[in-house]
Order: sequence, then C-alpha cells, then structure tokens
Amino acid sequence: MRWVSLRVIEPNRVLARNILDERGRVLLARGITLTPHWVQRLLSLGITSVCIEDERTDDVCPAELITPETRQRVLAATYDTLTELVSVPTSRRVRSTRVRGRMRPLVEEIIEEMRELGHAGQQFGNVYLTDGELYHHSVNVTLYALALGIALRLSTEQLIHLGLGALLHDVGKLRIPRPILKKPGRLTEDEYQTVKLHTVYGYEILRDAGELPSVSNVIALQHHERMDGSGYPAGIGGTEIHLFGRVTAVADVYEALTANRVYRAGYLPHDAYEMLLAGSGSLFDPRVIDAFVRTVDVYPVGMTVRLSNGCKGVVVRTSRRQSQRPVVRLLETESGQPVQPPVEVDLAKELTLAITGCEV
Ligand SMILES: [Fe+2]
Repeated sequence: MRWVSLRVIEPNRVLARNILDERGRVLLARGITLTPHWVQRLLSLGITSVCIEDERTDDVCPAELITPETRQRVLAATYDTLTELVSVPTSRRVRSTRVRGRMRPLVEEIIEEMRELGHAGQQFGNVYLTDGELYHHSVNVTLYALALGIALRLSTEQLIHLGLGALLHDVGKLRIPRPILKKPGRLTEDEYQTVKLHTVYGYEILRDAGELPSVSNVIALQHHERMDGSGYPAGIGGTEIHLFGRVTAVADVYEALTANRVYRAGYLPHDAYEMLLAGSGSLFDPRVIDAFVRTVDVYPVGMTVRLSNGCKGVVVRTSRRQSQRPVVRLLETESGQPVQPPVEVDLAKELTLAITGCEV
C-alpha cells in the first residue's frame, strides 16, 4: 500500500486504510473502490491524501506510531473532551468532564504501544480534514511530543503528563471565532492578536477544569513561546519555558508545517525538517531538536514521491543516518509509463537523484 494525493489519483483505486472523521468515526472503510464521485466528495471535505492498495507495493506497510484502533479511540475521546471543556458551564465542569479519567488511560496506552513498536516519528497516521483539523492536529502533535519525550528519556509519569497536555494544547482555539481561524489569507494585526489568545484561553480552561496537573496545563500556555523570547503570549525564553512547552513547540510546528491544509499544500518534509534545524537554539531547544533528529523519519515508508529525474516512486526503506535519502521503488517514468518490473534506487548511493516532491 502507499499514500497518494487525491488530486492526481487514478480512478477506481482501492482504499487501504479507513478514513476517519474528526470524531474518530469511519467516514470511508478500507476496501472500498474510490470512484471519481468519492474522490470529489473527499476533496470537498478537505481530504487531500489517502492510503491505497497497489500490487507493486503490496509488501510496503506504512508503519503507524499507534494502531488504527487506538488512534480512532484517541481521536474520539479528544473530540469529546475538547468540546465538553468549552461547552459545559464552569460550575459543572469539574464534575462532568472527567478529563483525567477518560484521557489518562488512553495516553498510557499510546505510550505503551509506542514503546512496543520501538520506533517513532512516522509522517502520517491519517489524512487531514478541513473542519476536523484541530482534532487530528492534536492527536498528531501528541504522538510527536511523546516520541520526543521517549527520546529524551522522560519517566512514564512525565510522559503521561506531557501527553495529556499535548492532546489538549489547542483547546483555547475553540474560543476563537471560526471565521478568523479558518481565514485562508493573511490575518490582520488585530486578528493575529486574537488568535494568540488561544494560549491564555486554553490555559484558563484547563486550570478551571482542575483535572490535570499544572505541568500539563502549562503546555497550552507555552507551546508558542520561543527560546529567544520571540514567541507568545508572555515572550519568555530559555528554561523559563517548561520542558513540556519546548517539546510541544517542536511537535506542533513540524505537524503544522507538513500537514496539508485546505489553502496550501504542506511543505516538503525535508524543508520542514530544515526549518526546525535552522531554528535550533534560537527558536527551539537544541536538546529537543537533537531528539527530533534521532526520532523522526523525514520520508516515511509508504510515501509516494517524485524524483529529480521526473520518475515517480514510493519509499520502501528508510535509513536513520540518512533519513532524507531513503530507498525508493520507481513506479512510473517521467512520461507516466509504468516501470516494469519496478526498480529500487537507494538515494543514499545515487547522489545525483533527489526527492523534489511528495504526494500527500
Ligand atoms: Fe497553538
């Protein structure tokens, strides 16, 4: 199976993985044939890429940080918790949200699964939805943050607190007017000031709910602070920012850069990767960036990529040491002719070839 862009997908491909909506419900089940009608439907929902069956990549199985079932449950619980947190009146909140009771066992499960799988930093787990962006984003950021936390050798209890805070880090966005959040173009200065408030709102919502440890709540407040003090809301820097805030900042930025949004395609993973590296020390904690480099596969197995010679292929193996130059199985020539039988090129050896685009 491999990931392809719905904008260029051939008709009648078979879906290899379930597509979940923002509440973790199955929108489209695997095994279904993606007719042009379905492709249009999905695109209109803001879904840009899907995982398809392809006999030439039958042996390729994009690794997941967590099982699809766990992702589904985490997404559903995140949706319920976030919406409850902002909709239940303050006085009833403490009794009715049961944030910790619901989320803590899930975070424990994620950590256990990630440790069992023994790898981290896969690019995708699922596709991104327009309106559900916040929920998918929250789950993805949490997976990255926990992968970084594991690389930083945090204790299990610390990881749980990190995971709980990361899942809810953007809850304050539900208090920001939708037209501003969904505005495709540049924000005005006033609008930007409003968006920044999601950090303070989020912290207040979590603090008032009184269910999470304060180190988890602080993530909502500090995930946009930067090491040199150029972030918001307080403009604090260095170790004034809690480690969990520094970890979540890296996870949040990488996820936001690489995810496709309705109004723009994500950056190429290696560009996003370079941007993070360039910010090491000035914007991001160098220790966290080191952990990121050790953890994240820039081009994960299963990703469909375009090479500098015009050929299209799919990543079949990655190398920790050279994660920007994986092994690619060529599927199509520059003119769109199938490469039969498929040929594999190791970009770590074929230095004249480079990845110039990816279909996500
Ligand atoms: Fe945020």
